[in-house]
Amino acid sequence: MYVCNCNGLNERMVDQAIADGARSAAEVFREHECRPLCGRCVGEVRTRINACRHRDACGSQPACGKKPAVSTPVHEHFLMAAE
Ligand code: FES
Repeated sequence: MYVCNCNGLNERMVDQAIADGARSAAEVFREHECRPLCGRCVGEVRTRINACRHRDACGSQPACGKKPAVSTPVHEHFLMAAE
């Protein structure tokens, strides 16, 4: 499914840019050598970046395929820190 119709970026392309290190919508566009035109997709791109960060932090597999940085769920880290 296309995320950005103006530039022909689909979900896989956006997720690949995130997996390659893009941490903002601008970096996703830069990775694909394009730029936002109408801007309607920027919210969706940011949502995908944030979803990747959340999944990364809680230890589940991010949609982008990147290995989770933390293997213990975040709430358990808070419990351990409180002890
Ligand atoms: S849909 Fe992405 S810039 Fe228009």
